[in-house]
Amino acid sequence: MVASRIPVAILGATGAVGQRFVQLLWNHPWFEITGLAASDRSTGQPYRDACNWVIPGDPPPELGDMIVSPIEPSLTARIVFSALPAAVASEAEPAFARRGYTVCSNASTYRCAPDVPLIIPELNADHLALIDVQRRQRSWSGMIVTSPNCTTTGIAIPLKALDTAFGVRKVFVTSMQAISGAGYPGIPSLDILDNVVPYVGGEEEKIEKELTLLLGQMAAGQRRPAPFVVSAHANRVPVLDGHTVCMSLGFTDPPSVEDAMAALSGFSGPDIVKQLPSAPELPIVLRTEVDRPQPRRDRDAQGGMAVTVGRIRTCPLLDLRLVSVVHNTLRGAASGAILNAELLIAAGYIR
Ligand SMILES: NC(=O)c1ccc[n+]([C@@H]2O[C@H](COP(=O)([O-])OP(=O)(O)OC[C@H]3O[C@@H](n4cnc5c(N)ncnc54)[C@H](OP(=O)(O)O)[C@@H]3O)[C@@H](O)[C@H]2O)c1
Repeated sequence: MVASRIPVAILGATGAVGQRFVQLLWNHPWFEITGLAASDRSTGQPYRDACNWVIPGDPPPELGDMIVSPIEPSLTARIVFSALPAAVASEAEPAFARRGYTVCSNASTYRCAPDVPLIIPELNADHLALIDVQRRQRSWSGMIVTSPNCTTTGIAIPLKALDTAFGVRKVFVTSMQAISGAGYPGIPSLDILDNVVPYVGGEEEKIEKELTLLLGQMAAGQRRPAPFVVSAHANRVPVLDGHTVCMSLGFTDPPSVEDAMAALSGFSGPDIVKQLPSAPELPIVLRTEVDRPQPRRDRDAQGGMAVTVGRIRTCPLLDLRLVSVVHNTLRGAASGAILNAELLIAAGYIR
């Protein structure tokens, strides 16, 4: 599908998500890393010196000599993958889009802007139509396309499967979020070891808003949020990678446990997504053991691209209960943004 590999750069390449981008984009069939950018702390240094590599495996040796650039729209790349803090993304991402770059962002800054697509390809590839609105309104030759919050992703994928089949009315969720979700160096060990922190700044609001956008419908060039109500509790727990979410769901047409399991295990994205290099065979892996999913055992399902769902049972408060696990820095961050970039190519937005 791609005649020659497209040059791409990573903004925030030294961070927890940036390292995942480096790992995943190295040897990607459609993309070639031509730039690594980070803060003043890192610029001017070879990547191997600037980056404290904290994920499994080693950084590609060939990239070790690449000099880290500042976050300026003069990089030799057509796509930039943004793993910047939200406050930094606020000015940097529009500056890149204005100069013609496609920005595939993991930052929260523009996720809820009415003219910015918030995409999980299997759920709402049609929301890419907002790119035309964005370009008209902002006169950018490039664009910003965003990926959801990592916890939102682990809820949205099973929720979409159930919403399509039975109509979701109410969503009550409690997250148990891994420490890598707070980046590097993240949370002090004295705060998180032997502990649960019942607060993750901004997370509950993001989950509640982003779910309604992701499952919203496009009508007359606008995104109409889904009408269901969401209540979220976010907790940080001493797990390295993988966010776990317990959910209770209310439906317009409440399903039996068997029907819900059939809808979840049969869920797949549109054909355009199935062919993408990073697409998993199954976006949802269903486990039937009484004690699954678990982050350590299930976060890497389908290369970290599948959400694992289990413990599906009736709920005395709403209609149905279940548990999901998502890999927060893979499907919930870097791999999700790469899948978005692949979709942009397949859908003809990047030529
Ligand atoms: N971690 C997750 O699971 C996850 C999931 C989904 C979305 N996200 C989002 O992804 C983004 C990155 O998260 P992370 O966990 O990778 O954070 P992180 O580990 O703290 O990394 C932040 C990166 O941004 C760079 N940076 C920081 N301040 C900067 C500045 N003033 N100017 C330019 N660059 C700057 C850092 O460069 P230096 O090393 O040079 O300081 C580093 O490369 C955030 O917006 C986060 O909310 C994270």
